[in-house]
Amino acid sequence: MSQKIRGVKGTRDVLPIDTYLKDDDPWVRVGHYDLVEQSARDLFPLYGYREARTPILERTELFVRGIGAVTDIVGKEMYTFDDKGDSVTMRPENTASLVRAYVEHNVGQQEPETRWWYLGPMFRRERQQRGRYRQFTQIGIEAFGSPGPRIDAEQIEMLDRWLRGLGLPFAMHLSTLGDAACRPRYREALQAYLRSRAGDLCEDCRKRVETNPIRVLDCKNPGCQEVAAGAPRMEQFLCDACRAHFAGVQESLGRLGVKFVVDPKLVRGLDYYARTTYEAIATSGLGAQSTVAGGGRYDGLVKELGGPDVPGIGFAAGVERMALLLAQMGKERTTPPLLFIAPLGDAEAARADELAQQLRSAGLPVEVSFRKANPGNQLKRADSLGARFALVLGDAELQSGRARLKELKTGTQHEVSLSSLAADLTRLR
Ligand code: HAM
Repeated sequence: MSQKIRGVKGTRDVLPIDTYLKDDDPWVRVGHYDLVEQSARDLFPLYGYREARTPILERTELFVRGIGAVTDIVGKEMYTFDDKGDSVTMRPENTASLVRAYVEHNVGQQEPETRWWYLGPMFRRERQQRGRYRQFTQIGIEAFGSPGPRIDAEQIEMLDRWLRGLGLPFAMHLSTLGDAACRPRYREALQAYLRSRAGDLCEDCRKRVETNPIRVLDCKNPGCQEVAAGAPRMEQFLCDACRAHFAGVQESLGRLGVKFVVDPKLVRGLDYYARTTYEAIATSGLGAQSTVAGGGRYDGLVKELGGPDVPGIGFAAGVERMALLLAQMGKERTTPPLLFIAPLGDAEAARADELAQQLRSAGLPVEVSFRKANPGNQLKRADSLGARFALVLGDAELQSGRARLKELKTGTQHEVSLSSLAADLTRLR
């Protein structure tokens, strides 16, 4: 026998049947993903977001300049390769790509405010664990042209509504990173403090003190956490404009009735943020990778990537993490057949094909069995597909033109005429 070929580490198959990934205990099916995705497609347009699709491949420089050269993503997690002289990267996130598209197509000149949503695979070469993969799916939004703070609150309210609508257990965390006027002063104070405690930091954090000191606040190492607990806080350094902006976000959230916690230790892994940042963090069910969605304001990024000085804000949610939570709750979106037809012989099979064609023309989902199996086994299959009704078509049914529709959940039988099956099914549905 030839050797089996296995999927690539950090990737997963999502099928309409149970598949098991070593690090995830619940069985995640496509129906769990589908529920997440469909709920976004239904909700986001209510807030004016329209779908935007950009390529998976981008020039490497976009992410180096967009996300920041000293971030973990750019430093060690990108899938980058040489494409005959051009360095290209499989997108690790989509904000930089949408900003590139916004700038490239001069969108700012065509409309004063832009709201886009997106869905698709992202790639980061991370260590695989529950809720963390090398290919994963994000659903996100970006809004260009609104300096806030009302749009900040509107986005957070939409995220909150989406996750609550799915019944997910989470808390909304909120913070601010200040802006170019006040963050440098904070950075300096933080750096001075961290240098004085360098002996208590892990090796990575000792480097971060010089390259990206804010990331030290996010380190999982207990020694670093203890140092972080005593660190100066951004709040104490905010300039008047940033302070007023942050107060405005909180006031708007209060008005919209959104619950949140101000979390000064909320550190995002990308360098483009300024002012508002937020994360929805699962309160159970996910273990270490518990951030379901994260985002914030990136007011300098459009300009940094060659565009006009237009502010932006957005978030992205991890579909795998949401699907894992839904799998634990037994919630999914499926499309089972309304009717499963099991013909017993060749003449019945021909009639079944015609019946199915008529029913599908009426918009009814029907599956016909092509198997030669006894009625008992056919009914079992209908049941495992989640069909609502089954119809066994034998010679007697063919001759009389009448048959019994079996409702699988209850076992109730409905006597129907084959010539009016579409009408009967529509009525019983
Ligand atoms: P991020 O925090 O890097 O932000 O990712 C957003 C979400 O994607 C995370 O909260 C998590 O749920 C999911 N995620 C990230 N990495 C993985 C992974 N390796 N496996 C599974 N899920 C993962 C961004 O990507 C920003 N672009 C969000 C944003 C949009 N900010 C402004 N606009």
